[in-house]
Amino acid sequence: MKRRSGLKIMTGLLRLLTPLLHVMLGCITLGTLGYLCAIFITVLASHLLLTVAGLSPWRMGFGVTAAVMIVIAMARAGLRYGEQTCGHYIAFKLLAVIRDRVFGALRRLAPARLEGKGRGDLIAVVTGDIELLEVFYAHTIAPVCIAFLVSLIMTLRIGAFHPLLGLLAAGCYIVVGAVVPLLTSRMGRAYGMEARGRLGGLNNVFLESLRGICEVLQFGQGAKREEEIRQKTLELNEVQKGIRRHEGASSSWSGALVMALPLLMLGAGIALHVGFPAVVMTTVMLSSSFGPVLALANLSAAMDSTLAAGERVLSLLEEAPETPDVLTGRTPDFSGASVDHLTFAYEEEEILHDLSAQFGKGEIVAVTGKSGSGKSTLLKLLMRFWNAPRGSVRVSGIDVGEIETAHLRKLESYMTQDTDLFNVSIRDNIRIGRLDASDEEVEDAARKASIHDFILTLPKGYDTKAGELGDTLSGGEKQRIGLARAFLHNAPLLLLDEPTSNLDSLNEGVILKALREESSESGRSVVLVSHRKSTLAVADRAYAIESGRLS
Ligand SMILES: Nc1ncnc2c1ncn2[C@@H]1O[C@H](COP(=O)(O)OP(=O)(O)O)[C@@H](O)[C@H]1O
Ligand SMILES: [Mg+2]
Repeated sequence: MKRRSGLKIMTGLLRLLTPLLHVMLGCITLGTLGYLCAIFITVLASHLLLTVAGLSPWRMGFGVTAAVMIVIAMARAGLRYGEQTCGHYIAFKLLAVIRDRVFGALRRLAPARLEGKGRGDLIAVVTGDIELLEVFYAHTIAPVCIAFLVSLIMTLRIGAFHPLLGLLAAGCYIVVGAVVPLLTSRMGRAYGMEARGRLGGLNNVFLESLRGICEVLQFGQGAKREEEIRQKTLELNEVQKGIRRHEGASSSWSGALVMALPLLMLGAGIALHVGFPAVVMTTVMLSSSFGPVLALANLSAAMDSTLAAGERVLSLLEEAPETPDVLTGRTPDFSGASVDHLTFAYEEEEILHDLSAQFGKGEIVAVTGKSGSGKSTLLKLLMRFWNAPRGSVRVSGIDVGEIETAHLRKLESYMTQDTDLFNVSIRDNIRIGRLDASDEEVEDAARKASIHDFILTLPKGYDTKAGELGDTLSGGEKQRIGLARAFLHNAPLLLLDEPTSNLDSLNEGVILKALREESSESGRSVVLVSHRKSTLAVADRAYAIESGRLS
């Protein structure tokens, strides 16, 4: 992943905001007005006191001032409410938009990107990072703009008494809102990174222990695991203590400054001989207007993790897929598939070396080989999940890279090694193979996959939701549902990855017979990957992959 600067990340994130810009402007306006109301309540209160003492700086009587104060106080509440509503509206609306775009990106990138290394990262983006951006959209952009605007307005207002006082005010805002947070965030950043790293480590150990709880219990590892988790928790606790200490220190610094700086203003006013009422007004104005800049100081703590999250989200959105979809390409009828002098490596290590094979129309071709020999890889290449750098993969004599992707998916029906079920009815789970299939067609496919009778024994038959069954479906049952899906898809080329690995020989027999019939009746071609010898019986031809080569 390429690294980018904080500024780049922020511009990237801001660009996602464009459709909601008007709401953001509304939010900033309301927020700025809200703060100004809060400031002027205090300022007007001092004005009231000066009026009583006969030193009124502005031409406003006691009654008018009091009335204005009441109006402002009420407006303040409404404005604050409006600002918060706008901010959160933007944030959640945007999160929905971003989630949608991230899912779109995942669809483009899958399946190559969803396996192997970096998959954990990807899951972190989807589950955690998008949520973190809420901080940026709801609690960062608007506060920064509001702090800038309020400080600018107050600088001008104080500057109206004396330009030098205005300058002094600007300096004070910069110190509290920018200098102190920047100085202290450097230290906080190191703590923050460390804490996140340790939290990740703790989560890993915890999840791992949960997942392997049976093994942990069986091999008496409970105490050891518990000790490990305890140790990691203690370490995390130490770092978090550091963070709290640091946060305490930086907020006491800001607090002290907010107290001291108005005294400076007082001194400056007296030195510049602006007169007693003006000295009081400028001092009160400054001391009551630190709210927005103080809010910035608290932001910087969350900023690092927000930026890191933003970077991961942006990178994902921009990532180029391994095999971009072919939108306009050739759409041949199926007349067989082949690989020719195919050499392939995921990374450095070559998985397939100079491999050539034919998968003729109407043939059942078995591909056998040891686990890890590259059988699944061969199927993924036939599906064009990855590009083959050397050699060619052809369907109907045409390189798969030239065939329209949607068409290629129609020609090929791929059953993966493990079948994932969605939490919909078993019927709809099978219907994923072809969305417009009728109930009869679904059941027919289930019969061929030798799972129909089993489904009828479920509490609600075909309408049983996969989730209701929990983990009670066995590997073999899932596998047969996956097979039914592949049958239903009705493609002329069936790519089956170990379709019978979890089945007893009875069910395997039924399925192999169904395959035989499919192939001879409807002329379907089948590539049957298996490490079992029994499957060879139905095959017209067999290839064995040994150390990447066919024999
Ligand atoms: N996405 C991937 N990235 C890196 N290596 C992979 C990936 N998928 C599979 N491999 C490796 O390629 C080899 C062949 O895998 P595979 O085709 O799944 O073997 P088989 O299906 O014959 O058991 C294995 O060593 C496996 O670890
Ligand atoms: Mg495999």
